[in-house]
Amino acid sequence: MSKNIIEIHGMKKSFDKGRVQALRGVDLEIKEGEFVSIMGPSGSGKSTLLNMIGAFDRADEGTIEVAGIDLMKTKRLDKFRSQQIGFVFQLHNLIPNLSVLENVEIPMLRTKATTKEMDERAMEILELMNFSNLSDLVKQNPTRLSGGERQRVAIARALVNHPKIILADEPTGALDSKTTQMILDLLKDIHEKENVTLVMVTHEPDVGAQADRTVYVLDGKVKEKET
Ligand SMILES: Nc1ncnc2c1ncn2[C@@H]1O[C@H](COP(=O)(O)OP(=O)(O)O)[C@@H](O)[C@H]1O
Ligand SMILES: [Mg+2]
Repeated sequence: MSKNIIEIHGMKKSFDKGRVQALRGVDLEIKEGEFVSIMGPSGSGKSTLLNMIGAFDRADEGTIEVAGIDLMKTKRLDKFRSQQIGFVFQLHNLIPNLSVLENVEIPMLRTKATTKEMDERAMEILELMNFSNLSDLVKQNPTRLSGGERQRVAIARALVNHPKIILADEPTGALDSKTTQMILDLLKDIHEKENVTLVMVTHEPDVGAQADRTVYVLDGKVKEKET
């Protein structure tokens, strides 16, 4: 059996000075290399959970260990995030006035990579994302791409630093069904080939069912079964 890469116990998180209790005691274990989908009603705490795992913010209570790092204690949340985590959002969050290549290279700016190394890695990962005429594409602004193409660029950006964990928050939420399946196939491919742990929030049952395991978030708690 592989070991847990994410281990959360009794985690709580509230907003607005405790008025909004987004997470009310989450227990969740995810194994290295697993593909887990997270489902549940709007407002149930899915994005908050993902943001805690990705160390965008700190939990109020409980324990959370990700990739061997105690996120309640470590002072370097940003360093942890840039080294271990790749994020994909529903809206790709690409920067419109940078080129595709520059967008993909953003996470590498904090590393010691040279310009040549950054270009090579960005091209390599864009190629994995099924872009054919790369030489034309890389100079373009993302505004000229279709929704599916933009999401593929966003996935390339998430993967460029070889993260151990990909966190995807409704990555296909804005796409039609055909493009959804293409994006999902790419994510599954990466998950298999690179042994990346993939945690994906989705509200689409067909999408969630393609994971190894689905967990449900209801009223700020995780359930392994839908109730
Ligand atoms: N930064 C924030 N400030 C205040 N309330 C928030 C914040 N983020 C989330 N919430 C609240 O926490 C609850 C859970 O939100 P969220 O995790 O985004 O749910 P989901 O992703 O399942 O739709 C909601 O009631 C939401 O309004
Ligand atoms: Mg959400």
